[in-house]
Amino acid sequence: LIEEIYALEILDSRGNPTLRVYVELFDGTKEFSSVPSGASTGQNEALELRDNDKRYGGKGVLKAVNNVNTTIADALIGMDATKQKDIDYTMIELDGTENKSKLGANAILGVSMAIAKAAAKSLNLPLYQYLGGTNAVRIPVPCMNILNGGEHADNSVDFQEFMLVPHGAPTFTEGLRYVAETFHTLKSILKKRKLATSVGDEGGFAPDCESNEAAIELIIEAIKKAGFKPGKDLSIAVDNAANSFCTNLKDNYNLVWSGKGKVTSDDIIDLAGEWLEKYPIILWEDPLAEKDYKGFKKFTKKYGDKIEVVGDDIFVTNTKYIKDGIKKNLANSCLIKLNQIGTVTETIEAVRMCRDAGWRYFLSHRSGETEDTFLADFAVAMDGGHLKTGSACRGERIAKYNRLLEIEHELGDRAEYRWS
Ligand code: PGA
Ligand code: ZN
Repeated sequence: LIEEIYALEILDSRGNPTLRVYVELFDGTKEFSSVPSGASTGQNEALELRDNDKRYGGKGVLKAVNNVNTTIADALIGMDATKQKDIDYTMIELDGTENKSKLGANAILGVSMAIAKAAAKSLNLPLYQYLGGTNAVRIPVPCMNILNGGEHADNSVDFQEFMLVPHGAPTFTEGLRYVAETFHTLKSILKKRKLATSVGDEGGFAPDCESNEAAIELIIEAIKKAGFKPGKDLSIAVDNAANSFCTNLKDNYNLVWSGKGKVTSDDIIDLAGEWLEKYPIILWEDPLAEKDYKGFKKFTKKYGDKIEVVGDDIFVTNTKYIKDGIKKNLANSCLIKLNQIGTVTETIEAVRMCRDAGWRYFLSHRSGETEDTFLADFAVAMDGGHLKTGSACRGERIAKYNRLLEIEHELGDRAEYRWS
């Protein structure tokens, strides 16, 4: 039973405030969990409650901390920590709004994750087993963000993320080596070309390339130079995060960095077609803006049998939008981010909906992260087969990879690793 819940304002990987929530059970178990925060957010994400006052440029979270320490703690103390669904729905009802704007999704999620961790610890189970059962043995393929653009970097690449996907590796441990070695090879290529080797928010490089295409060419070169076969050992995943270059569909898409200027939804779909002919791309996330249902549908119809088409900002881990997306064939996969919806239970419900529809689901960190490794265990528990949690540098990203190494080691022969 829950004895105590309290929160602390801490900093995330961008130096912005976020919450860490501590939970204590009557049996003496103590755990805590920290809440991530996005930059290129979907409009319908659950609300991240910020103080909007003078501290931290308005980004303080003391109101959310206070909500945890008073309203939420009062309601949950004495409840059974293993009743995750009851706990989460108690908070949802307590909040009473559609987007968790009263208590804050950041406050609610911190409590939800901390309680799951405490319950697992109290039962003496690793978190991935507590949430996923004894058959949770599949370690996700690490889609490693190696080159950043868009809102995550101040360079000349419009598309937000280029990821390396080591689907040809025999194990997660080997897959991680493939991507880390390619990361280092890319660094030496950039250095030689006198391009910047500084990194973006998720640890990917952020060089000034002359075009989006030049970025992908660099990555292919790095894969080969590192001794791997493009398409066989390593493929590429792209996240356009198209909202960031299309705020209003009437104005079309603005590929400002690459100098292409205003282009239509169809132009982007055609560009993807050209790339898919030329490059070993196996997953494409948010190719189009969240309001561009027509574009998403067309993109999926054209390429959905060849690649995984992932909706992030369009679905925001919310079963209401996923359900609609499934009905309208807008994609064939959904990005899953705990803080887009705000509780562990609702995130599991989103995963379940995808699974039931034969969709894939892609577990994800946020660009603002902490050293918390909840996501690593959660990804194994959800059995999705792949996750994205950043590059081969920056401690908050590496913490998740290291936790996955540990889980694979712990599972030994029982561990599975495969793309699909
Ligand atoms: P965010 O980016 O965390 O800044 O929203 C991640 C993504 O778009 O997938
Ligand atoms: Zn995205």
